[in-house]
Amino acid sequence: MNYGAGGYPMQVHDVKEILIDKHTIAKRVDELVDDIAAGPSGNLIVVGILKGSFVFLADLMRSFHRHDIHPRIDFLTLSSYGSGSTSSGEVEIIHDIREDISGANVLLVDDILDTGRTLSATKKRLLARGAKSIRTCVLLDKKARRAVEFEADHAGFSIDDHFVVGYGLDYNNLYRELPHIAKVSFHD
Ligand code: IMP
Ligand code: MG
Repeated sequence: MNYGAGGYPMQVHDVKEILIDKHTIAKRVDELVDDIAAGPSGNLIVVGILKGSFVFLADLMRSFHRHDIHPRIDFLTLSSYGSGSTSSGEVEIIHDIREDISGANVLLVDDILDTGRTLSATKKRLLARGAKSIRTCVLLDKKARRAVEFEADHAGFSIDDHFVVGYGLDYNNLYRELPHIAKVSFHD
């Protein structure tokens, strides 16, 4: 076992295999925003789940410009994955949003829908604060891994059960800077 920059145990691995390239991502982001813009867009607030959503969310936000839509923006920090690549199952708010979402149309954004625990718990919490509507949007959807019943309203790509990084997604907080989505290959 090796230890990464943050002191977490890291398996020997590489991130050479590109699963989704940056041009394919860019095209899909615009399509997602076209779909989102066709729904309720008045009093729209985009809420990103940190850290994984920040790259995706930045591209989504710029794409709204094509529709002359001006969303407010806020962020939530949760902890569900302590470190590494396995879920602990607990969803805890570490840093909450500051914006008032009562009466707002909320677009809740995450990088990837995996077990579904993060988005289903977060959506419930935000609905309890009086949002008019909450739609969820993820770049990636790993349907085979679902532990709770949950589907995103907008999903960029369905992928098989591989651990992936890049475009905001990480392995032990590394590789978020990759402009594409890459598979993590673990070696013995
Ligand atoms: P869920 O609650 O299991 O749906 O977890 C979603 C969260 O797990 C995402 O916000 C990611 O932080 C993390 N996650 C799940 N799969 C991956 C992956 O393949 N790469 C990186 N992070 C992942
Ligand atoms: Mg995350």
